[in-house]
Amino acid sequence: MRILITGCKGQLGLELIRQLNLSKGVYELIETDIHNLDITDQSAVLCLIDAVKPDAIINCAAYTNVDNCETDEANAFLVNAIGARNLSVAAFKVGAKILQISTDYVFKGEGNIPKKEYDAISPINCYGRSKAMGERLIRETNPRHFIVRTAWLYGQGKNFVRTMLELAKQRDEISVVNDQFGTPTSTVDLARCITELLSTEGYGTYHATCEGECSWHDFAVKIFELSGMNIRVNGITSEQLIRPAQRPKYAVLDNFMLKVCGLNTFRYWEESLEEYINIKSNVQI
Ligand SMILES: NC(=O)c1ccc[n+]([C@@H]2O[C@H](COP(=O)([O-])OP(=O)(O)OC[C@H]3O[C@@H](n4cnc5c(N)ncnc54)[C@H](OP(=O)(O)O)[C@@H]3O)[C@@H](O)[C@H]2O)c1
Repeated sequence: MRILITGCKGQLGLELIRQLNLSKGVYELIETDIHNLDITDQSAVLCLIDAVKPDAIINCAAYTNVDNCETDEANAFLVNAIGARNLSVAAFKVGAKILQISTDYVFKGEGNIPKKEYDAISPINCYGRSKAMGERLIRETNPRHFIVRTAWLYGQGKNFVRTMLELAKQRDEISVVNDQFGTPTSTVDLARCITELLSTEGYGTYHATCEGECSWHDFAVKIFELSGMNIRVNGITSEQLIRPAQRPKYAVLDNFMLKVCGLNTFRYWEESLEEYINIKSNVQI
């Protein structure tokens, strides 16, 4: 299977490539990042995909800085919506599947019941709106699509776990928001799910996060506990932490469609985090 991956230097792109390369001979990978394929450039996208004729495209490229999206709306939509559409149209032209990564931030985040795929979306920040538009444009342009919504990702690269561990080198006390809930998700678990989904014809929308839920405060406490660090974590409210973009309060996703299809292989978030921290203490990731 020939797979073209965008955003290869990002957290998820790196892990997907690592895992797909383990199955020697099964996948032929075309690895792209912004330097050799800017997904906002439609003619470049059409030209490369027509030349390569992949069987599938996995779009890991995105404008992921949630706060910057607020003041840079046009570029957020250019990458997260138009870029996704460009790939989807190009995939359609060569008969390829398209797998798009989306986000829990398409939801408003009210209540305390995990969101299923059929629940209505209503994003409250620009990042969420741009990703929601990306979902829509893909649905409208290529029936052979998988929309995979995930959340609170960590892997190789910049993420919350790394930020906490870096901060702990400088301080013995940290303040973290305790009124936003979600599910920390390892790129290892997500890449495994994506690879499995891609081999099927089960097109549609899927929620794909680790199991369980916690607040950012609980997440930080667990990171330090598993790392054997004695750091005091103070809980603060979202209102106390002034940020440009509003965040959903309760963005927990239920992997309902994966469960229905017998494809839910996600571990509980604490288990995946423990593996990540153990590996991180041995190698620099
Ligand atoms: N991180 C999370 O917590 C989270 C949560 C929910 C959903 N997601 C979604 O999961 C996916 C993967 O996230 P991630 O954490 O792996 O993101 P990431 O580490 O920020 O990687 C995104 C990659 O896309 C590249 N990119 C940006 N604009 C591009 C363009 N115009 N053309 C080509 N590449 C471009 C970035 O390059 P530069 O670094 O050079 O800009 C970066 O390498 C994204 O769709 C994201 O929206 C992430």
